[in-house]
Formats: sequence, C-alpha cells, structure tokens
Amino acid sequence: MDFSVRARIQSPHRSAAHFVAGEGGRRRPATSRVSFRPMASAASVEEPAAAAAAAAETKRGPSGASFIREHLRSLAPYQPILPFEVLSARLGRKPEDIIKLDANENPYGPPPEVAKALGNLKFPYVYPDPESRQLRAALAEDSGLESEYILAGCGADELIDLIMRCVLEPGDKIVDCPPTFTMYEFDASVNGALVIKDVAQIVKVVEQEKPKCIFLTSPNNPDGSIINDEDLLKILDLPILVVLDEAYIEFSSLQTRMSWVKKHDNLIVLRTFSKRAGLAGLRVGYGAFPLSIIEYLWRAKQPYNVSVAAEVSACAALQNPTYLEEVKNLLLQERDRLYDLLKEIPFLKPFPSHSNFILCEVTSGKDAKKIKEDLAKMGVMIRHYDKKELKGYIRISVGKPEHTDALMKGLKALQL
Ligand SMILES: Cc1ncc(COP(=O)(O)O)c(C=O)c1O
Repeated sequence: MDFSVRARIQSPHRSAAHFVAGEGGRRRPATSRVSFRPMASAASVEEPAAAAAAAAETKRGPSGASFIREHLRSLAPYQPILPFEVLSARLGRKPEDIIKLDANENPYGPPPEVAKALGNLKFPYVYPDPESRQLRAALAEDSGLESEYILAGCGADELIDLIMRCVLEPGDKIVDCPPTFTMYEFDASVNGALVIKDVAQIVKVVEQEKPKCIFLTSPNNPDGSIINDEDLLKILDLPILVVLDEAYIEFSSLQTRMSWVKKHDNLIVLRTFSKRAGLAGLRVGYGAFPLSIIEYLWRAKQPYNVSVAAEVSACAALQNPTYLEEVKNLLLQERDRLYDLLKEIPFLKPFPSHSNFILCEVTSGKDAKKIKEDLAKMGVMIRHYDKKELKGYIRISVGKPEHTDALMKGLKALQL
C-alpha cells in the first residue's frame, strides 16, 4: 500500500457553606437533620467567603482525583491553539493585526448569508432540533446522499468521540496513521482504547492485533497527502471499521466518498463546515454512516449537540455555493504561490499538499520552535511540532495573499 508521503516522514471544591446552603442559595438552618458542615466552621456561616477559605484549607475525605476513572488520571491534555483574545494580550497586538496560519481555518470566513441569518434568529430561547432536520436536508442536496445516512455534530471532533464511545470497549485497539490528526489518539485515550500506529503493515496488524477501527485522513493533516481508491478499497475489505476523515476534501481533486457508505457497512465518512465554509467558530461537522451504524449514534448522541446558531449558519452557508467555490479557488491559488515561495527559503523543505496547509521540514540546523516563536513576535502564527515523528517540522495554513506576504517577510528576516 502506498502511503509514501507519510512513510517519508517518518472543580471547584465544594465549601462547607455550599453544603449548608439549600437550592437557590437559601441556607438550611444550622440545626438541619443532615448537616455536612464541619464543626470547626460553625461560626463562619455568617461569613461565607471566610468559611469557603477555611474549608479549602482543611480538606477532608478522599481526594477529588480518586473519583476520576483510572485511565484518565494519566491523560495528557489536548493542546488546542490559543484563542484570539489570549494571543492578542500575549503578543500585545490587536486581534485583527494577528495573522493566524496555525489552525487551518478559512480566513475568508463564511458567505454573507450567515451573518444575516444569525442576525435574524427568531427562537434562540428554544432548544435546537435534535435531528438537525433542515441541515441534513440541505446536506443531502449538497452531497447527493439521502439525509437518513447523515448525522450532524458539534464539529467533526464531536463525531470522532461519539463514534469511539459507541464502538470501543476499554482496552480495544484502534489504528491511526501518523503523522496525522492528533484528536484520534486523544479521544482513544479518553475512551480507554490503545492506539496502534502502523501504516506500513495494516493487513498484518489487523490480523494479529484485531483493532476495532482505523482512522484514515484524506487529505491528511498535517502532510496534505491523499488516499487513492485502490488503497481504500483494500482496507475496506479487512474486518475493521474504517473512519475516513474528509475534513479537507474540498481542497483536493478527490470526490467525497460519502456515498460509499451505502455499499460498505464498515465505512464512516466525516466532513466539516470549519474549513470549506469558514465556520470553525460555530462548530458544525457531519458524517455519512451506514444505516446499520447510524442508528446507534442517534441513540448515544447528546440530543442538542448542534446549536440553533450552528444549524442556521451551516444552512445559510450552503445557500451560497458560488461563494464557497470562489473562496476555495482563492485558497488553492494561494496554496500554489505559498508552496513556490516556501521552496525558496533555504531552511525549509515544503511538502506538496492537497489541502489548505503546507507541511515543511526545517533544515539547515534551524529550530522549528524558534521559527514559530520569532514569527509570533512579528504577529504571524504558525504551528510547530516537537514530538515524535514530526519533530523539526512546521505547518503553515494557507491564508490570503497579504498573509503570505507577511509570512514571507518574516521568514526572510529570519534568514539574515
Ligand atoms: C483532519 C481533521 N479532522 C477533523 C477536524 C476537526 O473538525 P471540526 O472543526 O469540524 O471539529 C480537524 C481540525 O483541524 C482536522 O484537521
């Protein structure tokens, strides 16, 4: 199987006062039959702040951590990117003066219909449709796949976790194909599963280790590589659930494989509005599922996982396919320009990409982390990697032409 591009890279504590207070903040009389208020703080009931401080100092009973599931106690937290406001304060720059090329967002944002629709929300005080009917109908039209095969989520991220919650028993194994999106590994850990990282020998690994599912990403984040039909079909023949993440499919020349779920009962295809439609902040993703699987996801999902604002925004975005196409074309043009310019930087080796980002190996003894930090001081954010197979690599999202210009200016300054 040719995965050549990838192969190359190789609580708040409850105070005593809290227990004494009844619902709505009303205090139970101190003579209440059941009182968990420590004797020592009896005098402080009139001074809740002092009581809270005293209680915090004299912790009693088992530690909070002892209640946490064992496999989660050693979980490394997911490292998300910093939000604009935090970045802005740290860099001493206004958010609009920061060039964000670190999270593969779409700098053009959604079509104007989205702001209009959000401004006209009629019933924000009513819970959203648990079945996201309008959105799924719009997606059926957009994709050509009937809505009964489609389920929407709070980003593709939510669906990755939902799939794992439905499929994995603690101790089960999954396969992912590094370097890839780290959320698979993170969610696997949250769900008590083990991750096998063996791209070269998938058939053997499936036979010997019997993993439950494999996560394939096409185009892959972070190297921008794609999976061809032949390889995908070979993997689909194995006794394993295949989750194909197409978060960046629009930036490639590939057609989505959403409709394949009708033929392959072991295939799930994930998509998102974050990249194509510039809606990362509103959190809308969706998946195509075989009917034999989707039924269980419906049962297990949070009922109101897609907010009213998210559903309305996604539907509005789909109303303007011309805008989406234009923005995509602008990003593709810019990707090609960015790639050519990066090739000229003597300490970078960019990889050709089928997506809206470019992975670069940092060469000539330069340090990836230092490059990221120096660019950040100039207001340009990129992603650097310092772990495992990607140590010494950076990833740059494709932005607007002026973003590329600022990046290149920064990189050239680092050359001196
Ligand atoms: C491969 C891949 N899948 C899924 C996601 C998450 O998508 P969403 O924003 O819809 O949660 C990302 C985000 O960067 C990604 O890179």
